[in-house]
Amino acid sequence: MADSLLQDVLTLARQAPSGANLQPGSLISVVGEARQRLTADLTEGWRSGAQEPEDYSYFPTPLPMSLRRRQVAAAKALYGSIGIAQEDRAGRDLQFEQNFRFFDAPVALIATINGDFGSGGYMDFGMTLYGLMLAAQSHGLATCAIGAMASYPGLIRRNLGLDENSKIVCGIALGYADADAAVNQTVTERCALEQYFRVIE
Ligand SMILES: Cc1cc2nc3c(=O)[nH]c(=O)nc-3n(C[C@H](O)[C@H](O)[C@H](O)COP(=O)(O)O)c2cc1C
Repeated sequence: MADSLLQDVLTLARQAPSGANLQPGSLISVVGEARQRLTADLTEGWRSGAQEPEDYSYFPTPLPMSLRRRQVAAAKALYGSIGIAQEDRAGRDLQFEQNFRFFDAPVALIATINGDFGSGGYMDFGMTLYGLMLAAQSHGLATCAIGAMASYPGLIRRNLGLDENSKIVCGIALGYADADAAVNQTVTERCALEQYFRVIE
């Protein structure tokens, strides 16, 4: 992918608003041998079942049943589209492993945020990340956010030589969607408007 295309997308993404215009978060494009080293280490970590504390909390624990149902529906949609049965643990693992190779996309991004920011900073940075996704789409590109990367913050920091305060938010795979790929036939649903919007008078 041309550097100028990537820069256009990144510049558009950074038009996202942020509280007091602090513009939290940054993106690292991991290329060449650095990418090979990182994906090899991540894959090894994942295969060996390595576990480490994440930099930030994400899902509620325990996950209430109403949210668990959404998670299961999303997993069924994804694995169903590529013909991996729910009980096929090995097949699911192999698919999941692709997260750690950035789905072999041409551009591999790591999203980080300074650990001094609180939830608001993550919210602001999320807007930049969504801006990136939309900007990519408007340029004929596609993305997949990779929250799975947040499972290995220490490994990623060590691998890329980042300081302890660079918190790992997620990875982003950026490239060109293969419209014919089975995985891209996945259809996810959204909850009804009444479930997240109401009027109080
Ligand atoms: C912050 C974030 C992290 C995500 N992490 C992953 C991931 O690690 N692996 C993956 O395959 N999809 C990941 N996704 C994609 C979601 O699963 C997907 O957006 C959701 O199921 C809705 O599907 P849709 O985007 O196709 O509508 C992530 C999305 C977001 C916003």
